[in-house]
Amino acid sequence: MLAQVLRSLKAPLTQENWPDPVPDEGQAVVRLEAASLNRRDYWITQGLYPGISLPAVLGSDGSGVVETVGEGVDPAWIGQPVIVDAGIGWGASEAAQGRDFQVLGMPRDGTLAEKVLVDAIQLYPKPEYLTMEETACLPVGGTTAYRALFVKGELMPGHTVLITGVGGGVALLGMQMALAHGAEVWVTSSSGGKLARAEQAGARGGFNYLDSEWINAAKEQMGAPSLILDSAGGSGYSDLIQLLAPGGRMVNFGSTAGAPPQLDLFKVFWKQLSLVGSTMGSPRDFKAMMDFVSLHQIRPLIDETIPLLEANRGLARLHQSDQFGKIVIRNGA
Ligand SMILES: NC(=O)c1ccc[n+]([C@@H]2O[C@H](COP(=O)([O-])OP(=O)(O)OC[C@H]3O[C@@H](n4cnc5c(N)ncnc54)[C@H](OP(=O)(O)O)[C@@H]3O)[C@@H](O)[C@H]2O)c1
Repeated sequence: MLAQVLRSLKAPLTQENWPDPVPDEGQAVVRLEAASLNRRDYWITQGLYPGISLPAVLGSDGSGVVETVGEGVDPAWIGQPVIVDAGIGWGASEAAQGRDFQVLGMPRDGTLAEKVLVDAIQLYPKPEYLTMEETACLPVGGTTAYRALFVKGELMPGHTVLITGVGGGVALLGMQMALAHGAEVWVTSSSGGKLARAEQAGARGGFNYLDSEWINAAKEQMGAPSLILDSAGGSGYSDLIQLLAPGGRMVNFGSTAGAPPQLDLFKVFWKQLSLVGSTMGSPRDFKAMMDFVSLHQIRPLIDETIPLLEANRGLARLHQSDQFGKIVIRNGA
């Protein structure tokens, strides 16, 4: 099969003939129709991810049709359109993943290829109302957003939630889910165009986090949110702590802008804030996310669909961060 292979750090992926996967007991091979990119893929190419082993086939998100199954797997899966849960070996506790947890796409070969080998437990039927491309946007972003908003963030209808960096794949799916749940959603972005598009999609309003006065505008227009979903951290984190309502929750699933240089602990305890971490999601979270998006007929937004052969262009777009919606990689022309 053809695969996009990362052979060395900070170098482009190369399209290569890669061994066809063969399913072992409990496994299945999916012929991929679509994949989608996450910042994780970009971090790995730059060496900014723990435990990198090369060569690697990146790509955590994928959808396609089951081609073959190994022993012990229901043969009825063969020919079925599916989405693949990107989480592998979460473990027994819903509170946090175990030591053996992995994300598909390094060290296991990922979805930037014609086929992917998965554990049958990772298979889930593709929702009929979505295209293969839309389906491929959901595994990492959807599961991460779902757990952060509902499991860790305890978001309820009517609550006010601020989602930072709405141009991000997880953030945008989070916005769509929070809106579907009946929350009042506000967003931040570095781009006026993205803020306008978020408002068109249902956000109540937004603020440009590059504007030094944004926090004052936010206090005035939005008031104090009871939940903030953030994946940036960095120097802006102290503004978010200032903004959060007393008793509020800040859920972080990333630190794109690095560690916060300072933390005003006084505000944290005086306002009785909960600073919560969240990562991906358990198989239960993945299934709950799929049920939730299907119930609300949520369609992930796609910025561009790129052929597998041009996957490097997709990674370059992630680096530029100019997209609004997911970058999808399509198998075939
Ligand atoms: N823990 C987990 O399970 C998990 C899962 C998925 C992702 N993540 C992490 O979460 C982060 C986002 O991932 P992604 O795949 O959604 O990335 P992405 O699609 O590449 O989004 C990156 C976005 O981050 C926003 N951003 C950058 N600097 C910011 C700042 N200083 N303040 C606010 N927003 C800022 C930008 O939004 P604008 O364009 O709107 O300015 C940018 O578009 C990454 O750090 C990733 O590693 C963690």
